[in-house]
Amino acid sequence: MSFAHLVRFGILTLDFKENRNYFDFLRCVVNVASRKSMETFQLSHTPVMLREVLNSLPEGRVERCLDVTTGGAGHLAAILEQKPRWKADAWDRDPDAEARIWKNLSARGLEGRVQFTRKDFAQPPVDPSVLYDFIMADIGVSSFQLDDHARGMSLHSEQKLDFRMDPSSGAPFGVWLAAIEERKLAEIFYRYGEEPKAQNLAKKMKAWGGDSLASAKNFADAVSRALGYNPHESRRHPATRVFQALRIAINDELGQLERLLEWAPGHLAEGGRLLVLSFHSLEDRIVKHRFQTLARDKGGFVLPFTKPLVPSESETESNPRSRSTKLRVIERRSLGI
Ligand SMILES: C[S@@+](CC[C@H](N)C(=O)[O-])C[C@H]1O[C@@H](n2cnc3c(N)ncnc32)[C@H](O)[C@@H]1O
Repeated sequence: MSFAHLVRFGILTLDFKENRNYFDFLRCVVNVASRKSMETFQLSHTPVMLREVLNSLPEGRVERCLDVTTGGAGHLAAILEQKPRWKADAWDRDPDAEARIWKNLSARGLEGRVQFTRKDFAQPPVDPSVLYDFIMADIGVSSFQLDDHARGMSLHSEQKLDFRMDPSSGAPFGVWLAAIEERKLAEIFYRYGEEPKAQNLAKKMKAWGGDSLASAKNFADAVSRALGYNPHESRRHPATRVFQALRIAINDELGQLERLLEWAPGHLAEGGRLLVLSFHSLEDRIVKHRFQTLARDKGGFVLPFTKPLVPSESETESNPRSRSTKLRVIERRSLGI
């Protein structure tokens, strides 16, 4: 975007008043331009395995669907565009998600068909009798949360470290770290991050404070040094798996998924489908076992696909984050259970 465009679209005038000298002014141009390109990115972000999700929608009379992890409404908007008669309930626990969702939906004229609730998906809908024809969950963290350096979840963020998807609940990271036992911390690195130096890292981390906890970036660098790596030498940041492990533990991501899988099948209408996209083998194992148990024991459920669907080669090339995605679906055949 050129300088003239920034001025013409009124982007510059917003921050220009604040600038006292030329260098501040230039910094302002760069900030505003990158904020703008972030917004464009946010609206044009491509949801993972979109084609496969759209091909898994149930046929027939559909009244209402539910997206329990609406994120940026990427999947939801595409679903509503493909199914012009559908209405949707949209949930997300992240306080930043709502504005993003309405922005995307209104840009596509879909906002009138959606009701948003900020909540976590461990709890069932308030109305115990509501039945959905399609429920979807795209588990985990969103690329908005990972790429937003204004939050403390990204490896490169200068903000205070914060792994919480909902920063208004739970303890700040420093408090959490002080309270957790070293043995438990090592188990988190080992189980959720498959970190071979888990024990050693947990021991060192328990002694940290001050500078290493001042920002997410400082913390990521301290983790790299503790593991014996230089973060600037490897392609993938050495702290990536440790960040993932802490995020999974702090947000209780596996516990939340288990609770979702308890109530969601019972809220499907006849012929309704529950679709789960997961990114971690531990998550997929939970989904696989629950779906197999439902299909085997209760009789009223079937698995439309015997194996999980995975992203195409071209998708993993264009979006490497999609590499470990698994898509599983279960369908409710009858309500008589
Ligand atoms: C991978 S993103 C979803 C992206 C979305 N499908 C799209 O296309 O834009 C996951 C979203 O789920 C939300 N989330 C994660 N765990 C949640 C939970 N337990 N309850 C509600 N929302 C949750 C996150 O805040 C995040 O916005």
